[in-house]
Amino acid sequence: MSATSQYRHVTVLLEEAVEALAVRADGCYLDGTFGRGGHSRLILERLGPDGRLIGFDKDPLAITTGQELAAEDGRFVVVQRSFAELAEEVAVRGLTGRVAGVLLDLGVSSPQLDDAERGFSFLNDGPLDMRMNPNVGVSAAEWLATASEEEIARVFKDYGEERFAKRMARAVVQRRAERPFERTADLAEVLKQANPAWEKNKHPATRAFQGLRIHINNELGDLERGLDAALEVLAVGGRLVVISFHSLEDRIVKQFMRRHAKGEADNLPRHLPVQAKAFEPRLKLLGKPQYASEEEVRANPRARSAVMRVAEKLR
Ligand SMILES: C[S@@+](CC[C@H](N)C(=O)[O-])C[C@H]1O[C@@H](n2cnc3c(N)ncnc32)[C@H](O)[C@@H]1O
Repeated sequence: MSATSQYRHVTVLLEEAVEALAVRADGCYLDGTFGRGGHSRLILERLGPDGRLIGFDKDPLAITTGQELAAEDGRFVVVQRSFAELAEEVAVRGLTGRVAGVLLDLGVSSPQLDDAERGFSFLNDGPLDMRMNPNVGVSAAEWLATASEEEIARVFKDYGEERFAKRMARAVVQRRAERPFERTADLAEVLKQANPAWEKNKHPATRAFQGLRIHINNELGDLERGLDAALEVLAVGGRLVVISFHSLEDRIVKQFMRRHAKGEADNLPRHLPVQAKAFEPRLKLLGKPQYASEEEVRANPRARSAVMRVAEKLR
């Protein structure tokens, strides 16, 4: 079995997200989180011969799958780049302001979590890496070896919403003085011992691991840049569809959409001369946040925390 097919990803909110893009046969679409191409394939089904789709992913195995799809379908290309840089990619293709829809299905894919060798999992032991693209940046093990106790505590608290962040950071720093962390199971065990209040049905290292992953991949920073970039590249009438998996992501998406639905001048200092246009909204919110159906959650528990928000570009 090939490396790309060994672990499957079940796409969340598949029909709902592609429906929300309102795919036009001749439109140009961006899938900012290609993964294993679940959403992309359905978008391609709805595109006509003149439609185009550009997929982005940081992950080398996602890119391999994307290249296989691109070889079969000339309307599709895939680029190994963060969606934070989608405006640059679209600009070189001369498509700025002409994109009919952008989809972001955030976070990690099931293959990333399930393959212990990627180092995301506290359940399956593997090298402590956690990078979506293991060829760039700093691994979780490297970061934990040098970060200060305060930085580690901040990451556990701010990105993992871990109540006992300080205590857990102290345990990490004490243990690394004897021996550096190299494996996920080793870190999970130290975090587990340092966590005094285990939540029901949740491994006691879950939150700290989430925090670490978000930090190592700069997930929230990329999301903020990616949303700005999406607004820049969309055509008037184009759709922005974002699926989040935890409250930190969803808060950023919700605030971004609301801010642009109200008119950005809301955020400018009162004394500045502001052109009337700046008060005009740039986005229209479409519908309410959508969640996975009970049936979908039963079939794919990962869908339980998904929330999808949709907006349309007005100007
Ligand atoms: C939830 S999965 C997407 C699954 C995909 N919709 C499917 O149906 O197969 C998220 C994917 O986005 C990628 N990813 C996360 N953040 C990214 C970013 N900032 N830029 C590019 N890819 C990113 C991950 O590597 C992962 O493959």
